[in-house]
Amino acid sequence: MPLEIISMTLEDLPEVLRIEESSFPRPFSRKLFETEFQLAIAHLYAAKLDGRVAGYIDFWNAGAEIHLINIAVDPEARRHGVASRLMETLIGYATQNKVYEIYLDVRVSNQGAIELYKRFGFSNLMIRRGYYQDNNEDAQVMSLVLSKPTADQAGGTPGVVEKEGTKTDGPGPKPK
Ligand SMILES: CC(C)(COP(=O)(O)OP(=O)(O)OC[C@H]1O[C@@H](n2cnc3c(N)ncnc32)[C@H](O)[C@@H]1OP(=O)(O)O)[C@@H](O)C(=O)NCCC(=O)NCCS
Repeated sequence: MPLEIISMTLEDLPEVLRIEESSFPRPFSRKLFETEFQLAIAHLYAAKLDGRVAGYIDFWNAGAEIHLINIAVDPEARRHGVASRLMETLIGYATQNKVYEIYLDVRVSNQGAIELYKRFGFSNLMIRRGYYQDNNEDAQVMSLVLSKPTADQAGGTPGVVEKEGTKTDGPGPKPK
């Protein structure tokens, strides 16, 4: 059965939480996902293989920008293109919704994820020093510019610091 991408629902949460817990030192809780479902700007998709959740993505779309909040794949399903399909879903959404830039934070040690993002054209924007509270690790902020902003879209980037070395939390739930 081919991989299908669907809008994530509450019914997917047990499987999503299992993947979340095996993927992150500070996994999102059920409560946090439930809050995400209620946010108008949050978009959550699941990748399903044989009816089972193999991965998921959560991003926020505010105006002409997207912030990638979360992407994870079941450890047993990795390196089979699941995250790539989710990234294609993200970029497809962005293209259709006149988004001009996608931002994300990633631990500087997470070379696998950084490779994935580079493959989709993301480049390094800045470093947030000591962003991750569990081990004080730096975050690499990456971005993908899809098109030039129109005059009414221009004028700064909420939640993202323009200058290297200044620390400001980006949008989205706490870093993990
Ligand atoms: C990062 C992650 C989402 C990648 O998922 P995936 O389904 O395995 O990724 P894909 O199979 O689509 O990989 C596409 C490409 O990304 C790169 N890539 C992905 N994982 C990689 C790894 N561990 N090491 C090096 N490159 C990697 C490769 O270029 C890969 O292509 P290839 O397999 O042909 O070499 C997955 O490893 C994961 O869930 N990690 C834990 C959670 C996490 O770190 N999320 C990111 C938070 S910012």
